[in-house]
Amino acid sequence: MVAPPDLRGRQHPDRLFTLLGKLIAILEWLASGSYIRRPQARPVDRDLQLVVDEVRVEAADARSFRLVAANGAELPRWQPGSHLEVLLPSGRRRHYSLCGDPADRRCYRIAVRRLADGGGGSQELHDSVGPGSILTIRGPRNAFPYAPPFVPAAGYLFLAGGIGITPVLPMVKQAAADGAPWQLIYTGRSQASMPFLEELSALDPDRIQIRPYDQHGFPAGAQLLEQAPPGATVYCCGPAPMIASVRQAFPASAAAALQFERFTAPPVVDGEPFEIALQRSGRVLTVPAEVSALEVVRQAVPGVPYSCQQGFCGTCRTRVLSGEVDHRDRVLTDQERADTMTICVSRSRGGRIVVDL
Ligand code: FES
Repeated sequence: MVAPPDLRGRQHPDRLFTLLGKLIAILEWLASGSYIRRPQARPVDRDLQLVVDEVRVEAADARSFRLVAANGAELPRWQPGSHLEVLLPSGRRRHYSLCGDPADRRCYRIAVRRLADGGGGSQELHDSVGPGSILTIRGPRNAFPYAPPFVPAAGYLFLAGGIGITPVLPMVKQAAADGAPWQLIYTGRSQASMPFLEELSALDPDRIQIRPYDQHGFPAGAQLLEQAPPGATVYCCGPAPMIASVRQAFPASAAAALQFERFTAPPVVDGEPFEIALQRSGRVLTVPAEVSALEVVRQAVPGVPYSCQQGFCGTCRTRVLSGEVDHRDRVLTDQERADTMTICVSRSRGGRIVVDL
């Protein structure tokens, strides 16, 4: 609001108008609901032992696991987009998005697709974990937050591919509960493979498009982003080609911001081939330009620990005995980088790297 000249014709702001302008701004802010701050979820770094209370088949090869405290205690808060780190009985660590109701403090829900050619974590959950099993979890943590407070978007376009619906589902429900303008486009191989369709059917059907590939084909990013209203924030979680296509098309779209989360390893960018030598076995492996060191090492050392495959959890940290590392993680300190690397994303600066494996 621009103040007119005062009664004497001076251009400096009139105090009454300035106050009036501020009052109107405050009233607009209150009316927008932006002042409502949800209780903040703090990242939880201690381990919690939880009991699997229920396992449900949500789609072909996809199951949900409901986790509760053995004594029924309340669990740490979380917000849409949060994930848990799950320590499996075998010692594998995996990250899974929370897909239940943040308001229900008595349980967490995760959903997992069984991948026959994965690293064994999803198979273990499907084949060996059932009601009564104890799982150790760490978290929740949120690397994919929905609607940061005080920054309301002009609208929300949610894009989910297959099991990528898990972090998106609580976001969509939150947007619906908030009365925010939102649209969801949910893709997957076939309807039978897409979890939570029934739950979604309870929401406004005019805001949801279900697009299985076997009926609509694999959607190009530009096609998906056509639905974004001007100034919208886009949240995308799905397979790597879907995220790559959406990222590529985003600059030409009407949307203002893009948030995405992967559940698989990102493609290697600007990779050069290099050698990694495993000190304990004396084996020397060649890491091709477009492949991660982890992928190559896993062939030789099947039990090598890893989890996120994106350089943020630190599970794959490995001691470096010699060689210059191109650190690409988001978890190690400078001090740690002196003799440690995350083999899921980091590479060589040139020449052989010798690691303590
Ligand atoms: S697996 Fe998470 S940092 Fe490497």
